[in-house]
Amino acid sequence: MIIFMDRRNFLKQSCGACAAMSLGALLGTSFLESCGSTGLSVLKAAPSDGKVSVPLAQFEGHNFQLLRVNNYNYDIALQRKDDGTYSAMLLMCTHARHPLTKAGSGYYCTLHGSKFSADGKVEKGPASKPMVLLPTAIDGDRLVVTL
Ligand code: FES
Repeated sequence: MIIFMDRRNFLKQSCGACAAMSLGALLGTSFLESCGSTGLSVLKAAPSDGKVSVPLAQFEGHNFQLLRVNNYNYDIALQRKDDGTYSAMLLMCTHARHPLTKAGSGYYCTLHGSKFSADGKVEKGPASKPMVLLPTAIDGDRLVVTL
């Protein structure tokens, strides 16, 4: 099926997307997009001096945020815990370093089938070590993750 769009609507939609991306680039941090397969939003950020920071406002209304860092091999699962602290887990399987996929409240490795809980503990092997936690710190109104 072919869908035709008139020139005016095409330009309006294209320019709107470009403007949003440019604004994100100017702010130096984030651009939200929806991840089609999981329905989760993905926050994109550029690292600086081996760190990446995220506005704490990203956690308003939810405790989980998927972070994708430019030129970094793995996504990062950011979580706000019940006690108000934050964690950053590398979505890398500890068996053979395959990227992990969010599955329900935990994580799944499509290569050999390992499963991890929401807090990164191994629920099913062959992986035997928990997911890697990255150091986090609060700086004003931002969460800083050391890569
Ligand atoms: S690399 Fe994940 S289970 Fe083997």
